[in-house]
Amino acid sequence: MKMNKPHGGLLINSVDTTYKVNMKNETVHLDPIALSDLELLAIGAYSPLTGFMGKADYQSVVNNITLKNGLPWSIPITLPIDNKKANFIDIGDTINLVQDHTVYGVMTVHEMYTPDKNEEAKQVYQTTDPNHPGVKKLLERPNIYLGGPITLVHYPQKLSFQKYNLKPAETRNMFRQLGWETIVGFQTRNPVHRAHEYIQKAALETVDGLLLHPLVGETKDGDIPSERRMECYQVLLENYYPKQRVCLSVFPAAMRYAGPREAIFHALVRKNYGCTHFIVGRDHAGVGDYYGTYDAQKIFRQFSEEEIGIKIFCFENSFYCKKCEAMATAKTCPHPKEDHVSLSGTKVRAMLREGKMPPKEFSRPEVASKLIEGMSKTGMEVKQ
Ligand code: ADX
Repeated sequence: MKMNKPHGGLLINSVDTTYKVNMKNETVHLDPIALSDLELLAIGAYSPLTGFMGKADYQSVVNNITLKNGLPWSIPITLPIDNKKANFIDIGDTINLVQDHTVYGVMTVHEMYTPDKNEEAKQVYQTTDPNHPGVKKLLERPNIYLGGPITLVHYPQKLSFQKYNLKPAETRNMFRQLGWETIVGFQTRNPVHRAHEYIQKAALETVDGLLLHPLVGETKDGDIPSERRMECYQVLLENYYPKQRVCLSVFPAAMRYAGPREAIFHALVRKNYGCTHFIVGRDHAGVGDYYGTYDAQKIFRQFSEEEIGIKIFCFENSFYCKKCEAMATAKTCPHPKEDHVSLSGTKVRAMLREGKMPPKEFSRPEVASKLIEGMSKTGMEVKQ
């Protein structure tokens, strides 16, 4: 059976939980993004990367959307430290990567450099607006980057969904066991609504299996917490999906909201998890109106299919049409907008907060109930 090759050809594994950490090493604090990047680097999700980026890769990614060796890569994977910490670190040092007194990893420092964050924002996010959640994070993080190979020595805990936390080697294994040769990956940071379900199932008509791969790392205020979303995914799969053709597993990355750049990143990473196809719908990984509706699809035209190595399924904006009495897109429905059930995220959140069910043509009642239940349990869990 032919399995899709990892990006760059080899699946990286830099996990060593028997590693004897030298507690005398200098420590670097990991913020939530750096901790999730450390794990994703180590388990091979970011293959061929073996550590936080050095300057040449970083600059090449920022300016050319490729690593210095020419392989496509669209999001800088960086480890920021402040000036004070930089005074205690020398090139060649082994440092301990720490959060809340736990050493999660070690890194050999190969490089220390000062990035041009303004340029990074402009190129990666297409804006320097500090209100953009990805740019805001970028600017808040410290100003010096460390580059070098890492080893993960301790796995971060994934709270309530440990059993859904499969590494790339494990999803690949599972696909092999299931006999799936073509697998479509689906990225999401939201509950799966009818539009998502429609494009997933349209894709599933032509491939062997679907990897429902929700991002569960750091997201912005206003996004629904991952624990709540996991309940929604489970109830949806239970009631509306053929069990033998769908696999649910989490993607522990932080959300960047980088639209087109992040779509490439999401696709390459899903290739590492073993997917052969990847869905990019409308405004993939977008936020506000920073990106055009289909920019995240158009960016793939800059690369050949071989360079990306995973086929992109592009979908137009999907909705329920009352006249068609079906889910549709502008490609398949002749009726005007007034016949379409379209709700903004803000409107839906307002309805859920008031305990009102959104129309069943927008969201499956089982999913909406879980969301309402979650909000009443935790009050204003989802902020505007
Ligand atoms: S994302 O930030 O992870 O992209 P979301 O979870 O909303 O956000 O979207 C997951 C995927 O579904 C993305 O590929 C997105 O483009 C697509 N998508 C979301 N809503 C629609 C829709 N109504 N029509 C078509 N595609 C959609």
